[in-house]
Amino acid sequence: MKTLVILISGRGSNMQALLNADLNVDRIIVISNNPQAEGLQIAQRQGVETYVVDHRNFKDRKDFDEVLAGKIAEFQPKLVALAGFMRILSDDFVHRYQGRLINIHPSLLPAFPGLATHDRALREGVKIHGCTVHFVTPQLDHGPIIIQAAVVVLPEDTETSLANRVLQQEHRIFPQAVRWFVDDQLKLTGDMVQIEINHTCMSQITLYSPGLTE
Ligand code: GRF
Repeated sequence: MKTLVILISGRGSNMQALLNADLNVDRIIVISNNPQAEGLQIAQRQGVETYVVDHRNFKDRKDFDEVLAGKIAEFQPKLVALAGFMRILSDDFVHRYQGRLINIHPSLLPAFPGLATHDRALREGVKIHGCTVHFVTPQLDHGPIIIQAAVVVLPEDTETSLANRVLQQEHRIFPQAVRWFVDDQLKLTGDMVQIEINHTCMSQITLYSPGLTE
């Protein structure tokens, strides 16, 4: 049984992109640290199993992470996908799931780890911005990169317009990365990720670069 666990904290649009993607999995479980996450209702409306592990019920991160890790372990997931999960995970948690824990981040890592990525990109005047799906390691927003999408920064961009264009690309590359993983097409050697389809290395498809109008 191939199970995908998706962790969310809020809106859930990346979760929705995964639910829409018709992935080759037998079971999808959505878990949130936030009982109010909009994504929970979206998942429930689609008949997806949801659970809440509310971080506010724990005295510290370690306790929360232990219970969360235990909850996830009940499902023996092939993959745990962080889809806008806004908690920093402890090293113990990351080590337990390392190699089957991936994250979507709204910047071209290693640029702009952390929060407010679009605002920071505009302030720095970068001409190119985007999003990254990567394996999670103990270092925040760092880890072997699976796929990136690049977005041109336009002179008239605001934080919102840029965020919207990046988000569209997140919804393309996240399902793609998850599909590769669940179909056993990702090969992780050290810090390098390769895509192997029918024994052929396809690394040229790991940068998605839409045109100006997309
Ligand atoms: C996305 O921009 C994702 O890259 C970041 O948090 C945001 C979550 O959005 N990690 P959503 O909940 O998936 O709509």
